[in-house]
Amino acid sequence: MPPRSPLTGRVVIITGGSSGLGRCTAALFARAGWSVGLIARGAAGLAAAAEDVRAAGARAAVAVADVTDSAALAAAAAAIEQALGPIAVWINAAGNGVYGRFTEVPEDEFRQVTEVTYLGTVNGARVALALMRPRNRGTIVNVCSGVVFHGLPLMTSYSGAKAAVRAFGQALRIELAFERSAVRVSTVFPPAVNTPFFNHAISHMGWPARPVPPVYQPDVVARGIYMAASTGRPEMTISGTVACFALLSRIAPVWTGAVIRRLGVDGHLVRDAAADHGASPTVFAPSEAASPVHGAFGRRARRWSTQMGLRRLYGRLAGPGS
Ligand SMILES: NC(=O)c1ccc[n+]([C@@H]2O[C@H](COP(=O)([O-])OP(=O)(O)OC[C@H]3O[C@@H](n4cnc5c(N)ncnc54)[C@H](OP(=O)(O)O)[C@@H]3O)[C@@H](O)[C@H]2O)c1
Repeated sequence: MPPRSPLTGRVVIITGGSSGLGRCTAALFARAGWSVGLIARGAAGLAAAAEDVRAAGARAAVAVADVTDSAALAAAAAAIEQALGPIAVWINAAGNGVYGRFTEVPEDEFRQVTEVTYLGTVNGARVALALMRPRNRGTIVNVCSGVVFHGLPLMTSYSGAKAAVRAFGQALRIELAFERSAVRVSTVFPPAVNTPFFNHAISHMGWPARPVPPVYQPDVVARGIYMAASTGRPEMTISGTVACFALLSRIAPVWTGAVIRRLGVDGHLVRDAAADHGASPTVFAPSEAASPVHGAFGRRARRWSTQMGLRRLYGRLAGPGS
């Protein structure tokens, strides 16, 4: 349970709030006293996530929209503000993936990953800024990925899109500083997370995709997203493993590449004909049923991040806003 922060009672909008990380983050904000607006394409998933929020005693509003459609996203945000009031935080969590060798991934799939994962974030930021800049307050959190520190094989579209999300955040942050805006842009780099992401992805490898260990439970990452929203920290890794990965890829890029190569193709796939991981790709259309918070890889997933624990401790010692 997060502390009831001074931001309690405010409004957050979460794109991709109907499943996995977005749904988990929605429930966390609700438990901290926030009103939560949820945006995604699938009505059933949105209804289930809104139920989580209400069960935590908070107000919820949902709006169906595709993040690749700027106008639909703006209309969704307007409807949510109408229901809940002005937003303080906008979280861009919508994303998707396609697994396969670059030369074997059809162009339309590559483009769709880029449009949802990168341009969906850009569209979200555009809509959020239209609301936040005139008020000169608010925080945008972009859910990025550890892949920005070194792209992963079989995930060329996703790696490129997330690298673009990071650079976009860096550039936008400085533009806002030029105009002395108080609006903040925070980019978070989660590790591999046990969500339905891998079932929702398309795999061209003959086997379903899986997260590369170490895998964390979404609850850990949701706490990191909450911390980024509360502090407005410009960039934040959410686990020691990603922090080390970032450092190693900087000081020893060749060695880092060699380690990733050693993982081989199998490091990204579930090679088990008996395992039913319920793959149901949602890259081009949402699932008709609601999606859970957790995926099929919870057996060894970590419930705790030392780095997050240390950050919280430091925050308590240093006082609010640190
Ligand atoms: N799982 C991981 O290991 C991991 C690691 C690092 C970062 N991330 C990032 O975390 C974010 C959340 O992913 P997740 O793991 O929670 O996956 P997930 O369970 O598949 O959730 C993806 C969410 O995005 C929404 N979405 C997909 N396409 C959309 C579109 N065109 N328009 C609007 N919403 C769309 C989905 O809802 P609908 O299908 O109903 O639209 C769903 O709510 C993504 O940005 C992902 O890249 C995940």
